[in-house]
Amino acid sequence: MSRLAAIILAAGQGIRMRSKLAKVLHPVCGRPMVHYAVDLAESLAKGHVAVVVGYQAERVKDLLADRKVALVEQARRLGTGHAVVQAQAAFQGRGGNEWNGRRFVILSGDTPLLTEAAVRALLATHERERATVTLLTAHLDQPAGYGRIVRGRDGTVWRIIEDRDATPAERRLTEVNAGTYVVEGEFLFPALAGLKSSNAQKEYYLTDIVEAAIRQGRKVAAYIARDSIEALGVNTRAELAEAERILRDRVRRKLMEAGATFLEPETCFVDPEVRIGLDTVIHPHTTLEGRTIIGEDCVIRSHSRLVESVLGDGVTVLDSCVIEGSRLEAECTVGPFAHLRPGTIIKRGAKVGNFVELKKTELGPGAKANHLSYLGDAQVGSRVNVGAGTITCNYDGFDKHRTVIGDDVFVGSDVSLVAPVTIGRGAMIGAGSVVTEDVPADALALGRARQVVKPGWAKGMREKMRKGKR
Ligand code: UD1
Ligand code: CA
Repeated sequence: MSRLAAIILAAGQGIRMRSKLAKVLHPVCGRPMVHYAVDLAESLAKGHVAVVVGYQAERVKDLLADRKVALVEQARRLGTGHAVVQAQAAFQGRGGNEWNGRRFVILSGDTPLLTEAAVRALLATHERERATVTLLTAHLDQPAGYGRIVRGRDGTVWRIIEDRDATPAERRLTEVNAGTYVVEGEFLFPALAGLKSSNAQKEYYLTDIVEAAIRQGRKVAAYIARDSIEALGVNTRAELAEAERILRDRVRRKLMEAGATFLEPETCFVDPEVRIGLDTVIHPHTTLEGRTIIGEDCVIRSHSRLVESVLGDGVTVLDSCVIEGSRLEAECTVGPFAHLRPGTIIKRGAKVGNFVELKKTELGPGAKANHLSYLGDAQVGSRVNVGAGTITCNYDGFDKHRTVIGDDVFVGSDVSLVAPVTIGRGAMIGAGSVVTEDVPADALALGRARQVVKPGWAKGMREKMRKGKR
């Protein structure tokens, strides 16, 4: 078998996207579209991949700088056939014609739904049929815009006709060219050199190699994709949205197959790197982003958004929480309406309740911050009770300062802890205190004005006011 190589076409602007950004740079499921083709090409022919770049070439090159691919430039975009010609230089080898002994998989940068399984089946067809060119095709209910496959009476592929060049009868054909090909190198490059641009777009069409092969008496085969959606080419924003929807659906299905429950999967927005443990339940309208890892037996309630966070087993996240760059150990509970910002660590069994914000703060095992608090740059010990409305005053207008609270401390409600400040283990802070000095272990600290009581004063005041009004 010939040695496999891959060429990815990614030089086009993507005019139909109506965008300032090159089409292949548009993200699908959080990743620039071109990555999908590059991943696929690398798993088929690592080390022998060329990517043809052109529009916003520098940005595409930067994006692929750390991949093992040859980047070739197509300075003028004269069509898909012309694009493949540019890649020839990447396969010269020592003798200048290494391409001659290779078999090429040609992929488009704009078909992110294509799976490796489909391309492997395409390669198997090529091998079995001993073909020179093998096409991936698909039957579509709405084939408009795609090149159509024209077959002879005996079913053999004759040619590909582009939508714009097709007759009304040809436009009614529903078998389309998916833009993925397997071609023998010894035929490919000489054939491309003979292409003409006498068509509606005045471009050199890669698709014309089919007719060239037939003329030379070579075999052209086709493999019809089992799932026609794999052929989806992203040319417009609507197709971009469709590709996104399908990829996200695949992500959720995988997670469900791995043992997670989604109560209304279509409403959840989940990134591909997310991992979820057995028997965890994801309620409707949740967002799980980046490399978020959720343990077993967790419950994530609705309208919560988890970004780059790690949750242990048995964690409950109640409704409407935002959790970013945080680590939640086993059995802890967060929310509703909590905001955990980067650097938050919630230790085993701790609780964070309503309208509580944490930043760069560690909440010790079994500790509670149940209501209306801000804890920033703080170290909170085991079993600490953080009273309602407690605030760490961590910023003095210039720098951030730390608050350290020892184990078993009881902080009353509405306490301001002016950092830097340390509360010794087992101490108590009276409600309403403004704590500006360190508190030793087991002490009581009160930092508020002494209460004044004037018996009967209110009643007297009321009577005076009533008389005045008459
Ligand atoms: C192409 C096929 C069509 C097929 C469809 C499948 C041709 C002539 N037509 O049409 O039969 O049904 O894909 O999706 O090939 N590109 C370059 N340089 C160029 C032109 C294009 O690199 O000069 C790249 C684009 O960036 C894109 C890919 O080639 O990634 C396909 O180009 P596009 O313009 O989208 O082709 P279609 O009109 O979709
Ligand atoms: Ca396309």
